[in-house]
Amino acid sequence: MGSLSVLGFDAPGDLYITSELDRRPARDADPLREKLALQDLAAKMADNPEEMLPRFVDLAMELTGGISAGLSLYEENPSPGVFRWRYLRGALAPFENATTPRNFSPCGITLDQNKPVLSHHPERFYNWISDAHIEVPEVLLVPLYIGGDEPLGTLWIVSDKEGHFDKGHARVATELASFAGTALRMLRAEQALQKALAEQETLTREMGHRIRNLFAIAEGMVRITARTAENKEDMAKMLTGRFHALASAHGLVRRSFSTGEDNRITDLCTLLQTVVEPHEGVRHGAPSRFSISGPAISCGPHAINGIALIFHELATNAAKYGALQADDGHVTIAWDKVADDMVFRWVEKGGPEIVSAPQVSGFGSKLLQDTVLRQFGGQFDHNWQPAGLAVTISLPVNSLSA
Ligand SMILES: Nc1ncnc2c1ncn2[C@@H]1O[C@H](COP(=O)(O)OP(=O)(O)O)[C@@H](O)[C@H]1O
Ligand SMILES: [Mg+2]
Repeated sequence: MGSLSVLGFDAPGDLYITSELDRRPARDADPLREKLALQDLAAKMADNPEEMLPRFVDLAMELTGGISAGLSLYEENPSPGVFRWRYLRGALAPFENATTPRNFSPCGITLDQNKPVLSHHPERFYNWISDAHIEVPEVLLVPLYIGGDEPLGTLWIVSDKEGHFDKGHARVATELASFAGTALRMLRAEQALQKALAEQETLTREMGHRIRNLFAIAEGMVRITARTAENKEDMAKMLTGRFHALASAHGLVRRSFSTGEDNRITDLCTLLQTVVEPHEGVRHGAPSRFSISGPAISCGPHAINGIALIFHELATNAAKYGALQADDGHVTIAWDKVADDMVFRWVEKGGPEIVSAPQVSGFGSKLLQDTVLRQFGGQFDHNWQPAGLAVTISLPVNSLSA
């Protein structure tokens, strides 16, 4: 037996015997039965593509006399990607969700060749098959098109007999793969729609939360300004200035589920100043209510958005419940790099005394948690000291460039 080079590795010469498919005439084709079975499944597909997928795989196994079959779906990240085994039927069903290497598998070869492929005892060559103690006398693979011209997976059928698969089987499998590809495309479109709807729902809830907070802040501003303004004109001028600052701070917190949004500001210090600006002191010439300090850091647009959201939440709460309620309340914001994290400290002083940690948490707490944990993969800690709230937030440094 000669040998063959697959990606520079020496492989048995009869590892791929695709040309056999042409030499073996179709033996047990039953076109009428095939047609009826397909028509039946296709008619049901529109209602429930997910339920149809295992049935297409079943049919592939049945019509070709295989002992097991399944789909391998390509996942491109991390490069060079893997195939994930889905909708497995028959003997290999316990391997549902297993992955196989993109560039070291019969599926990869099928994608590269973009046509049906027949392999003979692939476990002799691919150690991940023999490691799983699977014996594969023959496997027939056909490309699966999920949209576009490039196949994004395969439909495969395993036989327990050598010399089993023929030209007719390759044709039936190709036909079934085309239906399975359509069902997958429908399923993915449906999932994308569900995701978009869920994001819409989140946005709507966030919007409601922000509007409620906005009114609370505006009300506080009117109250404080009325206390300190000397006359109507003075009050109007001060309030207008603060509302403008509030609008700029809000403009920074743009929630976008798609990437590539540009907030223009990239420097952390400028960002934090803009976020807290609406809460600055009302009295002319009064010292700033904020101490902001830390090393200069440039952040990516996604990170800027998230950090603006976090500090906007903290500032809003400080104005509603904490240090910024009092005229001489003060907030210190400082950050520093500690190992692989950027650690931020938010410390309030001079507000009402905190007797105990709050029993209830609102939507703001959830938003903070979502942003710190999920967007940045970071951590936070609230310390409810009598003198005021102190919050520590650690964000991985590499998450700041996103
Ligand atoms: N800076 C703060 N100082 C004192 N109490 C605070 C502060 N921030 C939040 N709290 C308390 O924590 C609770 C939860 O806050 P949050 O989840 O933002 O909800 P919401 O702002 O919608 O009430 C608040 O109701 C308040 O009692
Ligand atoms: Mg809040």
